Amino acid sequence: MSLLLNSSFTGASSACLLHRERSRSRRHHVPGVTCRQGSNGDRSDAARQQQSPLLLDRRDMLLGLGGLYGVTAGPKVLAAPIMPPDLSRCSDAKAPALKNNCCPPYDPNEKISEYGFPATPLRVRRPAHLVKDDQEYLDKYKEAVRRMKNLPANHPWNYYQQANIHCQYCNDAYYQKNTDDVHVQVHFSWIFLPWHRYYLHFYERILGKLIDDDTFTIPFWNWDTKDGMTFPAIFQDAASPLYDPKRDQRHVKDGAILDLKYAYKENPASDSEIIRENLCFIQKTFKHSLSLAELFMGDPVRAGEKEIQEANGQLEVIHNAAHMWVGEPDGYKENMGDFSTAARDSVFFCHHSNVDRMWDIYRKLRGNRVEFEDNDWLDSTFLFHDENEQLVKIRDCLNPTKLRYTFEQVPLPWLHINCQKTAETKSKATTELSLTRVNEFGTTAQALDASNPLRVIVARPKKNRKKKEKQEKVEVIQIKDIKVNVNETARFDVYVAVPYGDLAGPDYGEFAGSYVRLAHRKKGSDGTQEQGHKKKGKLKLGITPLLEDLDAEDADKLVVTLVLRTGSVTVGGVSINLLQTDAPAVI
Ligand code: C2O
Repeated sequence: MSLLLNSSFTGASSACLLHRERSRSRRHHVPGVTCRQGSNGDRSDAARQQQSPLLLDRRDMLLGLGGLYGVTAGPKVLAAPIMPPDLSRCSDAKAPALKNNCCPPYDPNEKISEYGFPATPLRVRRPAHLVKDDQEYLDKYKEAVRRMKNLPANHPWNYYQQANIHCQYCNDAYYQKNTDDVHVQVHFSWIFLPWHRYYLHFYERILGKLIDDDTFTIPFWNWDTKDGMTFPAIFQDAASPLYDPKRDQRHVKDGAILDLKYAYKENPASDSEIIRENLCFIQKTFKHSLSLAELFMGDPVRAGEKEIQEANGQLEVIHNAAHMWVGEPDGYKENMGDFSTAARDSVFFCHHSNVDRMWDIYRKLRGNRVEFEDNDWLDSTFLFHDENEQLVKIRDCLNPTKLRYTFEQVPLPWLHINCQKTAETKSKATTELSLTRVNEFGTTAQALDASNPLRVIVARPKKNRKKKEKQEKVEVIQIKDIKVNVNETARFDVYVAVPYGDLAGPDYGEFAGSYVRLAHRKKGSDGTQEQGHKKKGKLKLGITPLLEDLDAEDADKLVVTLVLRTGSVTVGGVSINLLQTDAPAVI
């Protein structure tokens, strides 16, 4: 077996590779991911810059790949897992952009079967920008999609029926069983990654069946590497079934660089700056959330809950940008920019294939530790239509190999890159001092204003935390009671800086992460659009490694700046808390 991620670790010194820490109280051993001064002595700055910020013990990687997949926890029931939707009630799934109802046409009384793992060859998903000259593969892909589009409109495998599945699960088409009004929603929570994994899996298998090729795979949009950061060319030929005219033509043309912080405004930075920003955003997403899965994957959601504050993980946040960037800039942002239509564009599946790959990398970087041992996650169950209606549980999708697919190994440039601000930018930020007083958040909700970022001073629960404390608890910024207009996309970015007493300089400090929520329009059954419907969310951003970068460990308080990028947003509070980690701290 080849060593996954192998090439990514070439910058590491052997001292780093052999370094390992153990946590006394944990069931799992803890692979060393720290390799800064103090842990291995007198390493030079140059060497430190070379090494990956997400360094892992190579032996752990090998061990993990040898089959540590699996769930070790005993039963743990907190509430109840999300169950498949009540198929008899799919009544108001009308989404305005679809101009039709996205409920499935098939019989809700059809026999439902349990999923069986496929006994097929291992299928290898490849990067979209690298398959563009593989004519044989492309012909197959196009033929499969062409056949899917030509199936009778009511066939469950029909291309648009497949796309509607996304609408059903995302646009409140279904209710949860045994509830009056709790919808099934697969975004904004820990369900996001597993549901989309299954969705792609069935889609890929259906395409393979249509061309009688059980080795067929969809490609992945390798947007985490420079050459993959443009819109994949294979979807651009207007004569191909992979084409979709409903895209932002400025972006899908050759050469435009995907902006992972896109918010319906063009980034004035140069291409190479945007590429670097993207790589650093991806690095931060991993680094800041490696010690606690919910920061990366999203918060729990359990059966019957409707008043909870939804919290998506930072991977979902990053993924939203590509949706926005590909979809039309106006109107309903069709197709990619709105959940109800997103899967009508073939690039949706290619994009999500990379999202799924990011999860796979996250898993491996954490020593193959299953992210949540909570049965409410593991037993959450969805329904898909392949040959049959099939029930699938999250616990069965945790190992892609069992679903018989994997990803071609390609370099991970974001793992190496030095994203620290240069000394020059740092000193510029601190010499241009025009200090202003910054207040605490206060007790009333605050509306964000695009021209005047919200800056608040927030007390830390503890300063000068020792290394061991950081391994046990991760410091997290929490923003609660986030309200958006669900009819429009919302985005704000969060920055963290060290104050001077209660005064802050003009520099917002380090980027910590973002809140992004795509538009989520739907029509009620009477046809009226739900105007101004508000739904609450929260945002959690790990900042332990960021405070190290800022040299802020001895600060009592931090200045948190919220920069509204698009949409209308109010927030109900900003706090800093310590949360128990579930994997080694990355510091
Ligand atoms: Cu279900 Cu990329 O969204």
